[in-house]
Amino acid sequence: MFAYTYSRYGAPEVLELTQVPKPTPKPSEVLVKIHATTVSAGDWRARSLTMPNGMALMGRLFFGITGPRKPILGTEFSGVVEAVGAEVTAYAPGDAVIGFPGASFGAHAEYIVMPEGGKLVPMPENLSFAEAASLPFGGTTAFDFLVNRAGIKAGEAVLINGASGAVGSACVQIAKHLGAHVTAVCSGKNADLVRSLGADEVIDYKQRDFAAEATLFDAVVDTVATAPLKRVRHVLRPRGRLVIIAGSTTDLLFGAVKALFYRRKTIGGVASEARDILQAVVDLAAEGQFQPVIDRCYGFDVMRAAHAHVDTGRKKGAVVVSLLPEALANVPKDSPQQGAA
Ligand SMILES: NC(=O)c1ccc[n+]([C@@H]2O[C@H](COP(=O)([O-])OP(=O)(O)OC[C@H]3O[C@@H](n4cnc5c(N)ncnc54)[C@H](OP(=O)(O)O)[C@@H]3O)[C@@H](O)[C@H]2O)c1
Repeated sequence: MFAYTYSRYGAPEVLELTQVPKPTPKPSEVLVKIHATTVSAGDWRARSLTMPNGMALMGRLFFGITGPRKPILGTEFSGVVEAVGAEVTAYAPGDAVIGFPGASFGAHAEYIVMPEGGKLVPMPENLSFAEAASLPFGGTTAFDFLVNRAGIKAGEAVLINGASGAVGSACVQIAKHLGAHVTAVCSGKNADLVRSLGADEVIDYKQRDFAAEATLFDAVVDTVATAPLKRVRHVLRPRGRLVIIAGSTTDLLFGAVKALFYRRKTIGGVASEARDILQAVVDLAAEGQFQPVIDRCYGFDVMRAAHAHVDTGRKKGAVVVSLLPEALANVPKDSPQQGAA
């Protein structure tokens, strides 16, 4: 099968379309033919080794000290089950599924194997393959931070900094679903988008500084790393939470101590990739309460262009890469995918 592999960190040019062995499912595994995947912020960080200030060493320890440990990127996908191991009972060939390999990566390929009980769930009928593939990365991060960790409640005032990204657009929708009053911070060009997702107020960060205004929030959710505690504590109510999805190293390491001093709370770290969170987000999408935002859709043959767009830092929601036959017209002729239905 074809997959994009990389053996050194760098620009999108480090990615090579390579033929690698098609995986064979073990007795408890499911083989999925991928129909759509995305280039996420996780792929961008792992490929370029772009880490928040002070976290370069941690990045190398995680992704590989001398070079990438996982040669195939891709954190999320949708597709159709092609084969199952002898012990698998929950899936059968032909089932449409959504998968979230997350930090295990591996979805920038024609096929992937996933454990039956892993981060793999049935795909709802109301989603396209592109929408389904766009759901796990942003959706589960938003759900884990807002529902499980910050405990956002109906009626609370929540500010989402970076509301147009994959994580931010999911945060706006999940905060609204929880009944919060949502203020979205984005650039003017994305104001209509975030309003359409349910934002009650929109602040154009190029025109206004929310941290210098008088409005107070029960929670400030930072997905851009421009809302350190020092800057935003004045707009947090007493016992308000700063939810650091992306943030400064100082806040991540010492935020809890600083926050005690300021009578505020910080919530940071890495989002859980648990299967039940993926299922909860997929259920919301099936009920029409969560709609993944898609910026652009690229063919698998132009994966580098998809990465280059993500590298701009300007994407809205997800950048999808399609492996459906019509998107594979330019993949080399010996690809086993050619001509497949
Ligand atoms: N802690 C965790 O476990 C966890 C999990 C997932 C992701 N993350 C991190 O979360 C961050 C966001 O991920 P993502 O997938 O949402 O990224 P993304 O989709 O690439 O974010 C791009 C968006 O950010 C907006 N943006 C850029 N600068 C901004 C600013 N100063 N103010 C407001 N908006 C701004 C851009 O809008 P404009 O073009 O209008 O500027 C663009 O729409 C990444 O750093 C990622 O590594 C952390």
